[in-house]
Amino acid sequence: MDRPTQDLRPHRGKLLVLTPGMGAVATTFMAGVEAVRRDLARPFGSLTQMQTIRLGRRSEGRSPLVRDFVDLAPLSDLVFAGWDPIPDDALAAARRAAVLRPEHLDPIAEPLSAIRPMKAAFDRSYVKRLDGPNVKKAANKFELAEALREDIRNAMAEHGADRAVMVWCGSTEIHLRPAACHADPDALVAGMKNDDPAISPSQLYAYAAIMEGVPYANGAPNLSADVPALETLAVERGVPIAGKDFKTGQTLMKTILAPGFKARMLGIAGWFSTNILGNRDGEVLDDPDSFRAKEVTKSGVLDTILQPDVYPELYGELYHKVRINYYPPRGDEKEGWDNIDIFGWLGYPMQIKVDFLCRDSILAAPIVLDLALLLDLAGRAGMRGIQEWLSFYFKSPHVAEGHVAEHDLFLQHLRLKNTLRLIGGEEPLTHLDEALESAGADA
Ligand SMILES: NC(=O)c1ccc[n+]([C@@H]2O[C@H](COP(=O)([O-])OP(=O)(O)OC[C@H]3O[C@@H](n4cnc5c(N)ncnc54)[C@H](O)[C@@H]3O)[C@@H](O)[C@H]2O)c1
Repeated sequence: MDRPTQDLRPHRGKLLVLTPGMGAVATTFMAGVEAVRRDLARPFGSLTQMQTIRLGRRSEGRSPLVRDFVDLAPLSDLVFAGWDPIPDDALAAARRAAVLRPEHLDPIAEPLSAIRPMKAAFDRSYVKRLDGPNVKKAANKFELAEALREDIRNAMAEHGADRAVMVWCGSTEIHLRPAACHADPDALVAGMKNDDPAISPSQLYAYAAIMEGVPYANGAPNLSADVPALETLAVERGVPIAGKDFKTGQTLMKTILAPGFKARMLGIAGWFSTNILGNRDGEVLDDPDSFRAKEVTKSGVLDTILQPDVYPELYGELYHKVRINYYPPRGDEKEGWDNIDIFGWLGYPMQIKVDFLCRDSILAAPIVLDLALLLDLAGRAGMRGIQEWLSFYFKSPHVAEGHVAEHDLFLQHLRLKNTLRLIGGEEPLTHLDEALESAGADA
């Protein structure tokens, strides 16, 4: 259910943001919140912090900030906890990730160094290029999930938190397909007790979160809460879930550009995308099984935006190729290079080159923040199960069985803001009043 089912329960107390994974993205997010609430920096890239929302007719002139319109937890009320097999605290991990410079980390060194990772539910078979000693031991996967549930309860008690939300910021796990153990909650519990290899660590975190009434989002491309067992459990427990794979960098550009070409009926013969990146995420993706998970989420985007079945002359022959190359000298400062072969009037070819010198974690951090705040909001509005309105933030939106994911960033944006309007008790925006006004009618 991704519309409100009850009056919004007001925010109060502290909101605990839990991140399985305390690497580049998670620590850039935590450091950013610490810096912004001390007025040391601005939360650029965050819709919940910076954007306005128009309410009612154009003539009414009502456009408050999103965060003044809906009752989001303010940054001052966020507290953090996470898990990682690598025992570095958030300051050490942020320094190692080298996304933020010392002048930004030094003033917030104290709160960051206090965030120490809890022991992870980690298994090298699912992330091959990684290892670390800070790992839980348990008799089976079910016991591991129970231990994660206990961690959640302990962290909430330690921080005096009223509510929690979990965003998976862990490494990309290998590509897995839904199996029999994912069919329903009972099969999942039995599978965990039997250590079924089809159940990955990220699914143990998702299970633990849902069982504790904690909304869950998956920022990575691997299979996680997007299986029937966890979808059903989320509905039963009244918990919102969303995923997957944060939409940053190249895919963000793709979902900005492709809707424009289609709106102008420009054809596309080919789209070649390559990336070079050198952070730990890039190293993990250097393993073909983890890359496969990423390749799947990156490749689906163009088809649904361009509708080659409806426009075969324009997009029926499109050749789409995606490459990711691990290249250590670049660190987190990835280069996403696109060559787009388009054609126009009478079929004349043209080329577009996009060279995006981006900073992965700088683009991902505000997404973690927005997802945490919006999922918490959704939970308080009685929204449960898959939250398709949060597709705006994902490369591969998690949608209900039988639904087609929307990839067009502008349609995703409209849907997100209309859902916020519904939560806030306002009418959705259709632009009908402008159309009627300019047609000379009384809107
Ligand atoms: N940065 C982006 O723009 C972006 C975009 C989309 C998706 N992502 C995804 O977000 C995730 C995080 O990216 P990052 O750059 O921070 O990577 P990172 O390698 O810096 O951090 C990931 C952390 O997860 C930890 N980890 C792995 N398995 C774990 C487990 N089972 N439990 C707890 N911790 C675990 C690792 O030890 C590591 O510290 C990756 O999966 C990445 O693919 C990132």
